[in-house]
Amino acid sequence: MFVRLVTHALKVLKMRTGWNCRKQRMFWRPVAAALDRGIDSLHEIKNPLHFYSMDENFSRKIESVLQACRLQRPLPYSVVFPSWGFESVKKIAEGAYGEIYTVQNRLDSSEQVLKTVGVYGSPRDDPHLSLEFENAVSDVICSKHLSKLRDPGVFQAPNFPKVHSIDLVKGKAPKCLVEAWNAFEASSKQTERLFHFRPDRYTRDALFVVMEMENCGETFSERQSTSPLQAVSLVLQTASALAVAECALGFEHRDLHLGNWLCRPTSQPRLDYSTEKWRWSVPTFNVQAFLIDFTMSRISVGGNAFAMDLSYFSDTGGDQNDPIFMNFNNVYRMMKEELGTDFSSYKPVTNLWWLAHIISNVHSTIRVHASTSDDVDTIALYALERLRDRVLRYSSTMDFVISEVFGEADTQQTL
Ligand SMILES: Nc1ncnc2c1ncn2[C@@H]1O[C@H](COP(=O)(O)OP(=O)(O)OP(=O)(O)O)[C@@H](O)[C@H]1O
Ligand SMILES: [Mg+2]
Repeated sequence: MFVRLVTHALKVLKMRTGWNCRKQRMFWRPVAAALDRGIDSLHEIKNPLHFYSMDENFSRKIESVLQACRLQRPLPYSVVFPSWGFESVKKIAEGAYGEIYTVQNRLDSSEQVLKTVGVYGSPRDDPHLSLEFENAVSDVICSKHLSKLRDPGVFQAPNFPKVHSIDLVKGKAPKCLVEAWNAFEASSKQTERLFHFRPDRYTRDALFVVMEMENCGETFSERQSTSPLQAVSLVLQTASALAVAECALGFEHRDLHLGNWLCRPTSQPRLDYSTEKWRWSVPTFNVQAFLIDFTMSRISVGGNAFAMDLSYFSDTGGDQNDPIFMNFNNVYRMMKEELGTDFSSYKPVTNLWWLAHIISNVHSTIRVHASTSDDVDTIALYALERLRDRVLRYSSTMDFVISEVFGEADTQQTL
């Protein structure tokens, strides 16, 4: 009521005094613009979605993202990312859909990763790279549920990032993000084209999904030295995590290329995994694998399946003669053939294709550095070759893990 009264009073004031941006002299323009902003803000308090032309379709979509984020309304950046709460903001990467920043939390000095993904009002050159609301929903739901697999429970797999918060954010980006964006642009090579606009160049109604999660390290290709034994561990951790996520959530990653597969040093000697039927652990040799980026993933939660429409993939992509067995373009093409038009159907074999892609790349990288006179290196390389050659015999990662890793069925296994 109060908001309505103040809004009305401002409107009357504007009409009576003739404060109108177009009619008035230069002097009054800032006053009129401020008055307009004031009226907009008051409207927004009354109805947070008043900026948008709310047809039924749009309103359903925005509600579904808000529900996935467990929010009533989009939040301003100042609430999600208050300038007093964070310092040392750096933009570290950008993907096709999102921009990635690292920030330091002032309260506990922990370093976090902030991923911002434009879901409305972020025009892109390639329309396929504009994320639709419904695709943001599956990313949000995957990130939340996979993050829970970090905690001890019936289903356990510690290779998905811990997510601290996921919000739908609207409005002006804070200065520190703009500065971090500028620094990233300045350090990018002249030839590299940035995918995303500077954060302060979006319109006021632009909406972003902002995820705050743990820092999962660097990609396998960026890592300077990975021993063959560590490489085997990273592959087994990844297979185990996919197997658990398949059993727990009918999960398919559908985009596990090397940019979405990260590694970080760990002091934990072993990582524990469990499903309803199996419990096992994998020695780490001081490295931990992380599977990130669930934009294209498929998951089922509470009887509902969430998945992205991948019909835009090319039917003919992929190079059959690529020396890397299962290169990523081939995997996209195979997924398209397998899924047809039913993207929500559950085809865990796609996880095995991505696993084959990873093992193949890891093997060809490690082979170059491995010492032929070192018995441990030789055995680890042989293990990788064997996993690579047998991974496509199965129809799910859980089957692969049970047969190739556990050997005989047993209820309590330690690798
Ligand atoms: N939690 C994280 N910890 C460390 N680095 C990260 C994290 N999340 C993302 N990154 C870095 O940012 C890059 C892009 O992130 P991400 O894959 O999530 O974005 P995207 O827009 O969905 O990418 P894509 O181009 O694969 O669609 C990653 O390859 C990685 O280098
Ligand atoms: Mg990615």
